[in-house]
Amino acid sequence: MQQEAHNLKGDSPTSSSSLGKNLAPAWLEVDLDKIANNIRKLKAAAGPGVKVLAMVKAQAYGCGAAMVSQVALENGAEMLGVANIAEALALRKSGLRCPILVFGRPDESELGAIIEEDLLQTVFDLMLARQLDRAAGTAGKSVRVHLKVDTGMGRLGLLPREMDDFLDGFASCPNLVLDGVYTHFPVADCDSRFTREQLEMLRSLLDKLRGRGYEVPHVHVANSAALLNRCGETFGIVRPGISIYGLYGSPLVSREINLEEVVSFKARVVHVKKVPPGTSVSYGREFIALRDTTIATIAAGYADGVPFRLAKKGDVLIHGRRFPIVGRVTMDMTMADVGESNDIAVGDVAVFFGESGRAHISVSEVAEKSGTIEHEVICGIGPRVPRVYLKDGNVACIQRYTFG
Ligand SMILES: Cc1ncc(COP(=O)(O)O)c(C=O)c1O
Repeated sequence: MQQEAHNLKGDSPTSSSSLGKNLAPAWLEVDLDKIANNIRKLKAAAGPGVKVLAMVKAQAYGCGAAMVSQVALENGAEMLGVANIAEALALRKSGLRCPILVFGRPDESELGAIIEEDLLQTVFDLMLARQLDRAAGTAGKSVRVHLKVDTGMGRLGLLPREMDDFLDGFASCPNLVLDGVYTHFPVADCDSRFTREQLEMLRSLLDKLRGRGYEVPHVHVANSAALLNRCGETFGIVRPGISIYGLYGSPLVSREINLEEVVSFKARVVHVKKVPPGTSVSYGREFIALRDTTIATIAAGYADGVPFRLAKKGDVLIHGRRFPIVGRVTMDMTMADVGESNDIAVGDVAVFFGESGRAHISVSEVAEKSGTIEHEVICGIGPRVPRVYLKDGNVACIQRYTFG
């Protein structure tokens, strides 16, 4: 990802006057002050002495991992979580030396990088533990690992009944240090009984580990839902993801802590036309104008992260007013029926989520109307959309994944 310094004080990309080489046609605004506030609130919610491991996988849920990580670390996070080695290496390359936990399984070819870059690596079976142990032995170093146990997620993780065999094998991995143990909750938003049972299971596994002489320094369980719904013990580390970005991830998560949405997705109007009744719009001709109206074509489509399923249900904001999205969302463009408005012109800003004047479309509204979750909406913002970072209300810098 390329980064541009952007010291144009007051040159907000939200103003149509700044249409030009820097920002057109679509961009994601990420408010760094709001990220800072959210992190501080999450840290306070976690309680004294509890560390925050900021989940910045998938380019910090689409917001840009390097920038989000930096702000998170400056505001109380102490560790970072990523899905794979490539993500961890990108963070190291950006100069971050903090503990980074890799949650996914590495390829054998990546084991050297874990050791060289002093990454914390998740393990959940003996095959991986032995591979890593051998690689560390060859390098003459040790590797800190976090053991993931599957207490009910049914995804990655050692099953409780596999623990004894695992520990028998782990005892012959002299180059691995058991630095952490963790599990993951699938229903922390909506099923506290199941979540409590998971915690019970984890506690008995920790007893077993103690019985075998392991004092594990780090134990962690809490995603955003568990932290915000206060689903019981958080141990020494919490692992919020979606809440960093000001989203709750589920309508069933407590709103007691007031988070601020950090992202706004905007694009330029690139064509405006008055059409007569009977005019069809977009592939499939699923929208036919019933009256004289005006169609605004907006320069962002599903390749940019406008959900295809938002058609017929979703709205955009232009000049602080809501207009329905009409016809299918296409790869690069989306159409809105702006009715009789005659103040909408090429270069105006359309907002898919975020604020426009006094109007607001939330990520949760977009998720609900497109039949998905907030996580997918923000992770889905495409690589060709520049990320515009705001600080003190001004553009602090712009990052681009690609130049076009
Ligand atoms: C293992 C693990 N922990 C924590 C999180 C963060 O979850 P959330 O974004 O819901 O806070 C995730 C996200 O997918 C995860 O996979």
